[in-house]
Amino acid sequence: MARFFELNTRAKIPAVGLGTYQAEHGVIEATIVAAVKAGYRHIDCAPLYNNEKEIGSALKKLFQNAIVKREDLFITSKLWCSNLAPEDVPEAINLTLEDLQLDYLDLYLIHWPYRLKKGGSPTPENFLPPDLPATWAAMEHLHASGKARAIGVSNFSSKKLEDLLAVAKVPPAVNQVECHPGWQQAKLHAFCQSNGIHISGYTPLARSKELLGHPVVSMVAEKLGRTPAQVVLRWGLQSGHSVLPKSVNEKRLIDNIGIFNWSIPDDLFAKFSEIEQERLIPGEFAVHPQSVYKTFDDLWDGDN
Ligand SMILES: NC(=O)c1ccc[n+]([C@@H]2O[C@H](COP(=O)([O-])OP(=O)(O)OC[C@H]3O[C@@H](n4cnc5c(N)ncnc54)[C@H](OP(=O)(O)O)[C@@H]3O)[C@@H](O)[C@H]2O)c1
Repeated sequence: MARFFELNTRAKIPAVGLGTYQAEHGVIEATIVAAVKAGYRHIDCAPLYNNEKEIGSALKKLFQNAIVKREDLFITSKLWCSNLAPEDVPEAINLTLEDLQLDYLDLYLIHWPYRLKKGGSPTPENFLPPDLPATWAAMEHLHASGKARAIGVSNFSSKKLEDLLAVAKVPPAVNQVECHPGWQQAKLHAFCQSNGIHISGYTPLARSKELLGHPVVSMVAEKLGRTPAQVVLRWGLQSGHSVLPKSVNEKRLIDNIGIFNWSIPDDLFAKFSEIEQERLIPGEFAVHPQSVYKTFDDLWDGDN
């Protein structure tokens, strides 16, 4: 299996990216350096994670010390919900680029399809109805300017993607969503595949909770002589999406990228369909009587 998937822009997105949520100050810089040395070429960032400045310092050191070139890295970041007004989008990417000390992003995503007042926290009085076509048009301007070489979305249902495709001049390249053997997203996968949208799987280890000890995962790991994390991540690649495991531990970083020179055979791959399905991140912070999404079904439109 190749180490990349091809996007509808023709760019190549590395099959394994490093997640950076809850990678705290004090450890994140060393983690980025260790990850690049271990072979990671994709880093998944977001201003929400409050560590883009530290990631920027690490990238600067990596470039200065000629450990990696900018053009060999794939850097993703995201537009936060309080910046969805079209006039706020250029300022938001500029701040991210400044913090990351970069001239461009390889991928810029709308982080969630809900909107908050500028500067507002996710509390009921701050909800505003999103105008996703208008936000997308602003994203298309960033794409045209070269600041975002690809644009996409995150946490979009197939229905929300369909609505977006109906108005988009540039179709989204990626939908970054929760995806792991405990939340496989069959319907969304089929929709994205038939519309040329790549899925990037977040929380691919299901935050290392019950999933890594699930009997199917343990059985497959034991048969293949791999760790449960490797088996779960490899399941993602064989399902056709990239994966974004987060680790700040050097041994686990190396473990999580060691998923290329072997595969899960068909008979064992089929066993993953026995795993019970449950969303880990239902997006409860976006669902409220004062939000445009009054119910979970308004947010996810029946995707499962
Ligand atoms: N777009 C969105 O809305 C969204 C939402 C959630 C996440 N994300 C992205 O997806 C990334 C990954 O998701 P996540 O961080 O929520 O969860 P995750 O990657 O599924 O799990 C991370 C947890 O697993 C542990 N871990 C890592 N490797 C392991 C291994 N080999 N064996 C056992 N445990 C291991 C980590 O601990 P250590 O660090 O101590 O190893 C951490 O506690 C995020 O960091 C973020 O970049 C995006």
